[in-house]
Amino acid sequence: MKGKTPMRLTAVLLASAALILTGYPGSAQEADDDPNIAVAYEEDGRYFTEDDIPTYNVAEDGTIDWRTYSGFRRYHSECHVCHGPEGEGSTYAPALKISAMEMDYYDFVDVVVNGRKVVSSSENSVMPAFGDNPNVMCYLDDIYVYLKARGTDAVARGRPGKKEPKSDVIREDENACLG
Ligand code: HEC
Repeated sequence: MKGKTPMRLTAVLLASAALILTGYPGSAQEADDDPNIAVAYEEDGRYFTEDDIPTYNVAEDGTIDWRTYSGFRRYHSECHVCHGPEGEGSTYAPALKISAMEMDYYDFVDVVVNGRKVVSSSENSVMPAFGDNPNVMCYLDDIYVYLKARGTDAVARGRPGKKEPKSDVIREDENACLG
């Protein structure tokens, strides 16, 4: 029995290190089994978990859903200047590919809508509020699912390849949102 505890501790520490480094400890298969990630249903080209939270979908041939592709583009026009390319983080702002995995969806949305400010003697970090910016608000779920796909590495770095076409409903909702 002696000697077992340190071994286990090492395993736990390694697992935590993996979580910090990659954002998600498991394989793509484990991501498929995670209820916070796994697709429970699809509606007009949009994918959701069993809790009705937006999620990404990668088909067997590697085709990604439209929202994940759109999120890649929107993230890189609105967020990457502070948060770094592909959700990897920067010295100034956190790695959102990890935030998207660890934060509750509604908390994530709340921070983007209302912003967040940490000002102290040692820190001055500001997340702007995007609540009035349609180029962010109309694509927030897209950005969120893209970052989740980055968190599990379901989508590799760089411009995604094959994508599903934009559905009519997504197009209509987008036009209505942009006004
Ligand atoms: C001007 C720089 C800047 C831009 C642009 C920006 N952010 Fe941030 N964001 C920050 C900073 C700095 C923080 C950390 C705030 C803090 O310390 O609480 C942050 C925090 C966040 C958090 C909370 C992360 C966590 O783990 O707590 C989320 C979510 C977030 N940003 C999403 C976004 C999204 C989505 C976009 C693009 C639409 C975006 N941000 C654009 C600077 C920025």
